Amino acid sequence: MSLYEKHIFVCENQRPEGDPRGCCFSKGAQGLTAELKKLAADAGLGKKVRINKAGCLGQCAFGTAVVVYPDAVWHRNVPADGAQAIFEQHLAPMGNK
Ligand code: FES
Repeated sequence: MSLYEKHIFVCENQRPEGDPRGCCFSKGAQGLTAELKKLAADAGLGKKVRINKAGCLGQCAFGTAVVVYPDAVWHRNVPADGAQAIFEQHLAPMGNK
């Protein structure tokens, strides 16, 4: 039995400035995680959803990386203000169950 219905990992890996690989931290990942948590809590999904920061998800070249389970959907190049779109795709439908 799963503890959570959805588990979202947001890469917040941070590399030194000038590292050619870049990092999700420098692209606003922290704010993205915080906003996802707020949206989930405001929707009353706090006990159904777990949202964690993650280390490098191996998608650095594509921008901030987010993966959602059990959906097994990867989002790459998520903008700093992209939490609402992820919420609507993966979490909002849970409110109707
Ligand atoms: S630093 Fe985020 S995917 Fe690599």
